[in-house]
Amino acid sequence: MAIAVYPGSFDPITFGHIDIATRAAKLFETVHVLVVHNPGKNPKLSLDKRVELVKAVLANQPGNFVVSSLASGLLVDYCKEVKAEALVKGIRTNVDIDYELPMAQVNRDLSGIETVFLPADPAHGFISSSLVKQVASLGGDISKYVPAEVVEALKN
Ligand code: PNS
Repeated sequence: MAIAVYPGSFDPITFGHIDIATRAAKLFETVHVLVVHNPGKNPKLSLDKRVELVKAVLANQPGNFVVSSLASGLLVDYCKEVKAEALVKGIRTNVDIDYELPMAQVNRDLSGIETVFLPADPAHGFISSSLVKQVASLGGDISKYVPAEVVEALKN
């Protein structure tokens, strides 16, 4: 049974993330969407809120998803625990490649796990969680970029 882990901060989950998760679910029987605490980032939404939103939006999507969180510890240890064969990451631009490639290499070096990169759909290529948060904080309309649950969560 092929299992993949799709990790990220998901602060918040966007239509770009949903596209990658559902495409990954066509390649793997189970996709663990793992909301990770990234100490290098100062999240807008709590880990629990992000998990709640990811669960809510993926409940309406085709695919076999398990949504969980990693508050600390190594991603590869979570992958071993759930017997994942691959990590999945979405790539929008060469900036993402520069950021993701060393992580893919260190994860493979640590545990042998491979990372599968899926190219972002051009329709979502410019969407990022940080831009969504910025537009929302300045009163802009983010409903084209994130599901309604997320629009609501960012209002509060
Ligand atoms: O959405 P993000 O913040 O770009 O995702 C980065 C994330 C959370 C996937 C990355 O920081 C991560 O894997 N953190 C877990 C800790 C870990 O295993 N670090 C070493 C290998 S990168």
